[in-house]
Amino acid sequence: MVVERKHVRRGLWNHLMRCGVEMGLASIIYEVGVASKYINHAMRTGDLGLAGTSNLYGEEQLALDVLADEIIKDRLDHTGRVSKIISEEQSDIIIFERKGKLRQYSVCYDPLDGSSLVDVNLAVGTIVSIYSGDNPLQAGRKQMGAMYVLYGPRTTLVYSVGKGVYEFTLNSLGEYTLTRENIVLKDHGNIYSPGGQRQKYLPNQRKFVGYLEENGYKLRYSGGFVPDINQILLKGSGIFMYPALSGSPDGKLRLPFELNPMAFLIENAGGSASTGTMPILDVIPEHLDQRCPIYIGSRQEVAMAEKFLAVEN
Ligand code: AHG
Ligand code: MN
Ligand code: MN
Repeated sequence: MVVERKHVRRGLWNHLMRCGVEMGLASIIYEVGVASKYINHAMRTGDLGLAGTSNLYGEEQLALDVLADEIIKDRLDHTGRVSKIISEEQSDIIIFERKGKLRQYSVCYDPLDGSSLVDVNLAVGTIVSIYSGDNPLQAGRKQMGAMYVLYGPRTTLVYSVGKGVYEFTLNSLGEYTLTRENIVLKDHGNIYSPGGQRQKYLPNQRKFVGYLEENGYKLRYSGGFVPDINQILLKGSGIFMYPALSGSPDGKLRLPFELNPMAFLIENAGGSASTGTMPILDVIPEHLDQRCPIYIGSRQEVAMAEKFLAVEN
């Protein structure tokens, strides 16, 4: 529901406190918001070139990937409530020394998702998943919260701690103010967002996409996970998929910092998220670069995908 401008819109910290979010969890969400303001500024003014390094996945890192990673890592450390992090841009789990007896959290994040789209001025995002304790490799069902920041025509922050999904928009004063509350997905939609190269689709995937096309679904795919998911969430329906492909049976997207946080948000908005055979949030992660195929969005379309994929070839 869009929050009307009948009064001064509520700021992020004020909202988190009024919703009774635990102080440590609230400070992590808030500090990712602070980090995103620096990333937002760097993206619109700074160096978009290559850093001359590559990450664990062999992907060339942009200066912006590395900068965004540094900024988020620094702000998470600053909370004094984070003990371990997994970042797409780091090859190992990063451990912060414990600070006192306060409850600790572990965070998995993709500092800049879709970075190859920055130089063509398409929307990109930051994706964050938050767990209690000092183990960042837990099943997604155990998340305490998840969020993303979308750097688009507007810069927006969407989060959930399991009590509804909320959107905040960065205003001209540099404050995130509440713009949508209790965002919900309808069970059925008419947008489909098919990732991956068509010629690498497996037969049942090809049949599923063919069914969607023959039944009037509209193709909406930007190549950025965050804007593509945000469109389905805010349009209120539809399905995003990045399937198993010939040569990559686990698809492309990473479980800890891309799939689990988005699955948490979409399930909290009343949608579902599947690997094609089981809920994403029930997958037990074994290693930090684990990938899964994903079908995520309105319940009916996700269930349909599972049915198509279950057919014996
Ligand atoms: P990242 O830039 O963090 O590596 O992620 C990019 C991902 C995701 O944003 C998107 O859904 C997917 O790559 C697009 O992949 P294709 O270019 O193969 O469609
Ligand atoms: Mn990514
Ligand atoms: Mn990335």
